[in-house]
Amino acid sequence: MKTYLITGGAGFIGSNFIQYIFNKSREKILVINIDKLTYAGNLDNLRSVESLENYKFIKGDICDAEILQEIFENFDIDCIVNFAAESHVDRSIEDPSIFIKTNILGTQTLLDISKKYWKINDDFREGKKFIQISTDEVYGSLGKEGYFTEKTSIDPHSPYSASKASADLIVKSYYDTYKMPINITRCSNNYGPYQFPEKLIPLIINNCLNERYIPVYGDGKNIRDWLHVEDHCRAIDLVINKGVIGEVYNIGGNNEKENVQIVKYIISVLKNKGLSVSEELIRYVEDRKGHDRRYAIDSTKIKENLGFKPSLSFEDGMLKTLEWYLNNKMWLDKVGSGDYMNYYEKFYNKR
Ligand code: NAD
Ligand code: DAU
Repeated sequence: MKTYLITGGAGFIGSNFIQYIFNKSREKILVINIDKLTYAGNLDNLRSVESLENYKFIKGDICDAEILQEIFENFDIDCIVNFAAESHVDRSIEDPSIFIKTNILGTQTLLDISKKYWKINDDFREGKKFIQISTDEVYGSLGKEGYFTEKTSIDPHSPYSASKASADLIVKSYYDTYKMPINITRCSNNYGPYQFPEKLIPLIINNCLNERYIPVYGDGKNIRDWLHVEDHCRAIDLVINKGVIGEVYNIGGNNEKENVQIVKYIISVLKNKGLSVSEELIRYVEDRKGHDRRYAIDSTKIKENLGFKPSLSFEDGMLKTLEWYLNNKMWLDKVGSGDYMNYYEKFYNKR
């Protein structure tokens, strides 16, 4: 029996990951999910696992050492997967402080508690691992040429990416200093089910379904490398089981697209499905401050060393994703209303 402590498991990637590991090995794992349930955390994402005996949810903050200590007292945690974060770049530009707290101090609190329970004299107990879920955004921005490798220098531009880069360096320092068993993963942009509609792809879908304008920042030609969340989950699982301790692994989709290409693609697929949407919904708005131009990942290391390659093409992944949102309109209506609409209207009215 392997015991996981998943942080931020009620968010987009965390909830997909919990479902992924239960689908893979239902009986052989115990999963403790600690989540603060911020605006981005949603227990509806976990309905398929909530009644399992080997799943336990704890509402809590990764900055709270006492609650973490209680978890480690009650469970012999083998693997921590740290998804918990403030994850939205635009929100970090509006107010960086919570990004610094959760993403940096929260990670350090988790590291300290796990070190306390995992370390005996100079060694760490066998089979323990701390996985830091990081992002390609720590590398900054590319021009037309080149790719981020694990050796690319860190050069973050937003308060969000700077907080993630800081956390990465702290995690690395626990390996360098204490030989703490860690891996860091740096993935490109994810899409798929249960993604909060402040992020580009669910925002486009939500706005199309509600006949709202689709705000495209700047000239719409910024490039992101898109990966379906199921593929990201599989890559994380490989890193947990086969990743060499102390190593960083980039995870990419080999799927570079301009933002406006994504917008037009979604509109065309929805149109083909009979929905009345058109490119007239597109509105070019003021650019994001410090907007990174292009992200592109070199995934050679994870491919050659751990055997990972994405299984879903962009077209299949997008079709699957669009169908999920169309079939789960109630989910989208629920998360895409109330507080989110206040944020959305205030944010876009300012642009
Ligand atoms: P998300 O915003 O959807 O989910 C974050 C979750 O963390 C939420 O459930 C939230 O309630 C929880 N949380 C926030 N602060 C917390 C705290 N202090 N204590 C406990 N829980 C807290 O984010 P996501 O898109 O699922 O991203 C998950 C991780 O993956 C993040 O670390 C992010 O940096 C990283 N990442 C995301 C992407 C992407 O495309 N979304 C790509 C690469 C890496
Ligand atoms: O690259 C990985 C990162 O991807 C993760 O670390 C972050 O947590 C995640 O939020 C995501 O960051 P981005 O900033 O790339 O994602 P976002 O969906 O916010 O924006 C994608 C692109 O679309 C970006 O170039 C900005 C643009 N955009 C975004 C929104 C919300 C628009 O043009 N209009 C919009 O309304």
